[in-house]
Amino acid sequence: MHLYDLSYRGCISCFTCKLKGGKSYGKCAVRDGLTPLLEKLAAADAFVLGSPIYFGNVTGEMRSFMERLLYQYLANTRQPSTLFTHKLRTAFVYTINVPESTLKATNYPALFKQNEDVLSRVFGQAGTLCSYETQQFEDYGKMVLEYFDPAQRVERRLKVFPEDCKRAYALGEKLAG
Ligand SMILES: Cc1cc2nc3c(=O)[nH]c(=O)nc-3n(C[C@H](O)[C@H](O)[C@H](O)COP(=O)(O)O)c2cc1C
Repeated sequence: MHLYDLSYRGCISCFTCKLKGGKSYGKCAVRDGLTPLLEKLAAADAFVLGSPIYFGNVTGEMRSFMERLLYQYLANTRQPSTLFTHKLRTAFVYTINVPESTLKATNYPALFKQNEDVLSRVFGQAGTLCSYETQQFEDYGKMVLEYFDPAQRVERRLKVFPEDCKRAYALGEKLAG
């Protein structure tokens, strides 16, 4: 499912999903293009979220989606708990421009952990997979982009990216198993 194909908004803080005895308790009451996807996920055995890193975070669309997916199931109780009724296997795949070696200087590890924590809290299990130094353009010569060595990116696409794809496949197998 491609989030950019759907028409939806993030959480509007209506709190209908937290109304005592309400018919939408534990369920997002907003009806829009995201509703069928939220229903599909509630009936799934596993799911994988995927996003590029934009300005040190997941995309705006992914954040809006996560607000709607996760907040409905967060129980506002003293002990962190979930209103989701069963366990679901989940993972997050990120594509990232910077090299893995520079990760310590970024907030990305904290972002990965935060997403793992909230996905585990709600659904019971969460994994993370990253693909670094992605090739953004077929022909870097046409673009103004002076940070990266195009030849290195093309070589990485040929040598490392297929390995990333294999790891992604193995992750999918693990989730399905
Ligand atoms: C608006 C925008 C912001 C981006 N910000 C970052 C960033 O903060 N860190 C990073 O490593 N890459 C950044 N990138 C690069 C993407 O993460 C990278 O191209 C990704 O691997 C693939 O994204 P795509 O599917 O949008 O092409 C940015 C790209 C765009 C378009």
